[in-house]
Amino acid sequence: MEKNEDKKKKILITGGCGYIGSHTVVEALSQGFSVVVLDSLCNSSHLSLDRINDITGKTIDFFYGDVRDPAVVREIFSRHNISAVLHFAGLKAVADSVKLPLAYYENNVYGTIVLLQEMQRAGVKKFIFSSSATVYGDSGTIPVSENCPTGNPSSPYGKSKLMVENILEDLADSDSSWAIGILRYFNPIGAHPSGLIGEDPKGYPSNLLPFITQVAVRRREKLLVFGNDYETPDGTGVRDYLHVVDLAKGHLCALRYLESNCGTNIWNLGSGKGFSVLEVIRAFEDASGIHIPYDIVGRRFGDIPSLWADPSKASIELGWAAEIDLLRMMRDSWNWQRANPNGFEEK
Ligand code: NAD
Ligand code: WQD
Repeated sequence: MEKNEDKKKKILITGGCGYIGSHTVVEALSQGFSVVVLDSLCNSSHLSLDRINDITGKTIDFFYGDVRDPAVVREIFSRHNISAVLHFAGLKAVADSVKLPLAYYENNVYGTIVLLQEMQRAGVKKFIFSSSATVYGDSGTIPVSENCPTGNPSSPYGKSKLMVENILEDLADSDSSWAIGILRYFNPIGAHPSGLIGEDPKGYPSNLLPFITQVAVRRREKLLVFGNDYETPDGTGVRDYLHVVDLAKGHLCALRYLESNCGTNIWNLGSGKGFSVLEVIRAFEDASGIHIPYDIVGRRFGDIPSLWADPSKASIELGWAAEIDLLRMMRDSWNWQRANPNGFEEK
């Protein structure tokens, strides 16, 4: 059996091979935690683990498996003295979720329930959940704060996040010893400054930044800008971009908060600033010196004109704020993609 002081420092990170999870593993290791990762590699590469080792010089315990499999989750809790779980594992492509709603609800909702049941069985009751600003839907209020009503997300993906938020609220109401952090991310971009880990979507990228960087390395011919007739300063969509390293740090701040606070706690993690698609393209061109060809096409179904966070609750309660500016986000995204034009695997 591990000693109690070890237990306090050992955390399980599901989806730790993925984009945000891998950056959070690096941050957790560098803050002295030991980390166990559970990942099915359905949207990531095992090579991210080697890269984490290159960055930190530390090893992690890796379980190849699915959060929907109670046996593997139970094995982790029986082998390791886990004090908290950071739950990133899930499917995240909004358009796919419209085509495959059952796969999304099964992975994101059922998978989370299995994980929570096994946590309860093991007596581990600190949980941080990767939610999304998408739960606000088109609330019409900008910036959005946590007490703005959640809207009706337009996709099964967004609805799956809201369902899990509701389940977590009910769980904490049923048992006051649960300490739960719900983190509503805005638009994470950027990469670790080493260029060793970064965003590597499988297939066609649905998000703006990986599409831009794949155009920059000539894996895609040109970017399609979805609409320039929104009521925004230049007509293109405005979003709140934050550096993935800032986001990773937010998880560790939330974890510290949960050391002494129970119940459900919701925080927006965003920069509080909005940038348009055209501003992002220009910033990327400035950072990389590479021209990004684009065509303006029609609006994408489900997109809203503008969204950015009121991040003051995270600032007051967690002492967290996004610190890295847009130009550095672009530099780090480019640094990663330039060094890894085909992502982790040579494709
Ligand atoms: P990602 O796809 O890069 O990482 C998810 C990881 O989970 C992958 O390594 C994948 O292999 C793994 N995984 C998926 N289903 C699994 C399962 N059933 N069992 C075990 N492993 C599984 O995605 P990401 O961008 O790092 O996102 C992490 C989390 O944050 C997701 O829950 C996502 O919905 C949420 N989120 C992401 C964004 C974003 O823009 N990237 C924004 C808001 C919220
Ligand atoms: C940003 C802006 C697009 C791609 C999504 C999810 C959200 C969260 C983050 C997971 C928009 C425009 C994009 C392209 C474009 N993910 N765009 N051409 O839509 O704000 O949020 O990812 O939780 O839930 O909905 O992010 O990066 O897709 O788009 O013009 O090829 O870029 O219209 O204005 P979005 P995004």
